[in-house]
Amino acid sequence: MDGPTAQNIVNMSSEVILVTGGAGFVGSHTVLELLNANWSVVVIDNLVNAAKGGSKPASLERVEKLTGKKVEFHEANLLDRSALTRVFKLYTIHTVIHFAALKAVGESVEKPLEYYKNNINGTTTLLEVMREKGVKSLIFSSSATVYGCPKYLPVDEKHPTGVAITNPYGRTKYFVEEILKDLCAAEKDWSVTLLRYFNPVGAHESGDIGEDPNGPPNNLMPYVSQVAVGRRPQLQVFGGDYDTPDGTGVRDYLHVVDLARGHLAALPKVSIPGCHIYNLGTGSGYSVLQVIDAFQRASRQKIKYQVVARRPGDVASLYADCSLAERELGWRAQLSLDDMCASAWRWQQKNKYGFSPPPDGGADH
Ligand code: UD1
Repeated sequence: MDGPTAQNIVNMSSEVILVTGGAGFVGSHTVLELLNANWSVVVIDNLVNAAKGGSKPASLERVEKLTGKKVEFHEANLLDRSALTRVFKLYTIHTVIHFAALKAVGESVEKPLEYYKNNINGTTTLLEVMREKGVKSLIFSSSATVYGCPKYLPVDEKHPTGVAITNPYGRTKYFVEEILKDLCAAEKDWSVTLLRYFNPVGAHESGDIGEDPNGPPNNLMPYVSQVAVGRRPQLQVFGGDYDTPDGTGVRDYLHVVDLARGHLAALPKVSIPGCHIYNLGTGSGYSVLQVIDAFQRASRQKIKYQVVARRPGDVASLYADCSLAERELGWRAQLSLDDMCASAWRWQQKNKYGFSPPPDGGADH
């Protein structure tokens, strides 16, 4: 038998990874990978954007089935300091992976205060409780949105941030990054890793967990898969006149399982104090029409679409330079656009209405 690995040494200790927002799309896939790597996992989620199951959110019940392991779950809002403190008293926490946030771009324009309060005050409350309890390792779910309109491509981590961000959601990610940088500059015993995600899509290969947006999807891939499965009549392609090879927007789509594994690759960094920043993407850009094409191949369904006006706030092209993550974390995306489409389609076919039962009368929600 092989000797103990770094992962199962950790498992023999009683330390846990605390995952905020662990019932959501990226969160649930990360919890699954953590469990598979023998970590003990505790999730805090307020279920604002995740389906309730029995005693746990539906996504986490599925994760338990897929891994054969248990997840500890606490329904709590990060703004509720006493609830957070109670959870922190129950465990010895190795690292916090912080996903919990509101994330609908359009809604953030209509409800900026709600977004600033949830995403920023929620984070500062979490940080205060962490400090009180002596937990000073954090991995933060940031976004390529902090780069605003890119000055050069591919975008690396040195690219300026905070300029020309077009919505409050994006600004909350930028502001939290700045708060975390200031904290690391002032208090040298913190270790914070900012992971800037490009466009996470796809689903676990089982098709049992995946992206389950509330109402009409804002993002491309879930919209395409809902058209493919017959929940929506057609896709609107926002803009056909960009300065890109086929005129449609180009993005760096990243398989959610690769992204989840990026968090595990970042875990060793938490023993090094300071603020570490990594892009997580594939480094390749695909246009909207290329995504439609790949999805049609994967699903063998015709995706009806119509090219309409540009969506305000969109940029023509955005894709990542991910060489730093490869050099320093030994992480590199492994899965292709075809894998992303095939897994998204498997999830959508098996779960036409996501984690929810079909709506009454068959009308969509
Ligand atoms: C969007 C958000 C970004 C957020 C990210 C989360 C905006 C302006 N940006 O990024 O802040 O971090 O999601 O994943 O909303 N498209 C269509 N039809 C659709 C939907 C999208 O043509 O129904 C196009 C878009 O114009 C874009 C591409 O598909 O060219 C990708 O869009 P989307 O999935 O919304 O991601 P981003 O805009 O990159």
